[in-house]
Amino acid sequence: MLDLTPKREELEPIEIASRDEISALQLKRLKWTLRHVYDNVQYTWKKFDKAGVHPDDLKSLDDLARFPFTAKDDLRQNYPFGMFAVPQDGIVRVHASSGTTGKPTVVGYTRNDIDTWSDLMARSIRASGGRRGMILHVAYGYGLFTGGLGAHYGSERLGCMTVPVSGGMTERQVQLIEDFKPDIIMVTPSYMLSILDEFKKQRIDPRRSSLKVGIFGAEPWTNSMRSEIEQAFDMHAVDIYGLSEVMGPGVANECVETKDGLHVWEDHFYPEVIDPVTGKVLPDGEIGELVFTSLTKEAMPVVRYRTRDLTRLLPGTARSMRRMEKITGRSDDMMIVRGVNVFPTQVEELLLEIDQLAGHYQVVLTRSDRLDLFEVLVEARPEANSADVRQGAADRLARRIKDRIGVTAKVTVLDPGAVERSAGKARRVVDNRPKV
Ligand code: DLL
Repeated sequence: MLDLTPKREELEPIEIASRDEISALQLKRLKWTLRHVYDNVQYTWKKFDKAGVHPDDLKSLDDLARFPFTAKDDLRQNYPFGMFAVPQDGIVRVHASSGTTGKPTVVGYTRNDIDTWSDLMARSIRASGGRRGMILHVAYGYGLFTGGLGAHYGSERLGCMTVPVSGGMTERQVQLIEDFKPDIIMVTPSYMLSILDEFKKQRIDPRRSSLKVGIFGAEPWTNSMRSEIEQAFDMHAVDIYGLSEVMGPGVANECVETKDGLHVWEDHFYPEVIDPVTGKVLPDGEIGELVFTSLTKEAMPVVRYRTRDLTRLLPGTARSMRRMEKITGRSDDMMIVRGVNVFPTQVEELLLEIDQLAGHYQVVLTRSDRLDLFEVLVEARPEANSADVRQGAADRLARRIKDRIGVTAKVTVLDPGAVERSAGKARRVVDNRPKV
């Protein structure tokens, strides 16, 4: 794979500034944010008053822990525009995240917010190995989802030739990759596997494609999936993280030269990791729920937004800004099977160790006689086409799940193409247990 490490002089000075400089900037911006929310969002103002805190109470970054959290439900209660901190004539864009139940959450952006977002996406693409003049294929969905337009504006800001394909029509994705010869693709990792299948179906060698970098996010994925994609395409696979409520993609990104977790763009977002049960802030290095406070957002600033994503904070490496470890999963996706906590990513890691199995999978939970049944549906690789070979692979996976995760799983190996596909985020868990 090519060395795509950006030169030091290509980076923004703040990316390699000292920790003191970063903290000083954060404190200044945090004070501005708390004041801005307090003055302009009635709901938050009341919430602060109820909790007995005032923006003037924030003297140091640690004081943020005294302020109340914001949850997805706060945004739902204020649907659609109740959390906006500027008048409507200052809003130039909205996005929404669908969520699995109920109303979507709506987020707004001022002209400056779109500018900041574009800058941070350009920074993320550069960290991933992108440069001005490269061709960038965007296969994240365009629309209310932040993936497509977020990637698009960042790619243009960096000076890449941007191909706005959006998700779906997999045959056409492959044709455009063959014809336009993009250097970079931005897409969910699960959909990249579908694109890989299509390459194989058309008998085109993916290792000979023009792609040098894939910037993958919007859903949890493992280092095993990284190796799978990197080997299949002979390209770098880099992780990008973000969420609509905090901005969209580009809140944190890996660096292509290290691939050791995602640097949080701390000049714009202040991260905390908390104990999801007690709400207590945990020291760096401990795993818990990731919480973000925006530092520069005008239209919809968020204070201590609970992401429900589980990870831990680590010191900076390729940049001075702290890293977050690859997300293990969302607390909503955590399955409790007969008392054992299981994340889909744990299953992903194990199934990709088995040569006969492909990365398309789903976990189905059912209940029988008051016992939870944990079934893994996974596709065989095309070359694993005999019943014996498939059964052997199923047994191996079941044994590994029992040994390493501690739950008894039924593993069903299906034909290639049989597991539900998505052109965006994959649905990894289907919970058919009766609701209690
Ligand atoms: O998924 C924004 C995005 C688009 C990120 C494209 C990266 C690339 P939402 O639809 O609001 O926004 O979903 C946010 O997706 O809280 C995580 O649970 C999950 N997620 C996003 N990126 C990653 C990642 C976009 N790199 C939710 N690893 C977040 C794991 C991720 N989970």
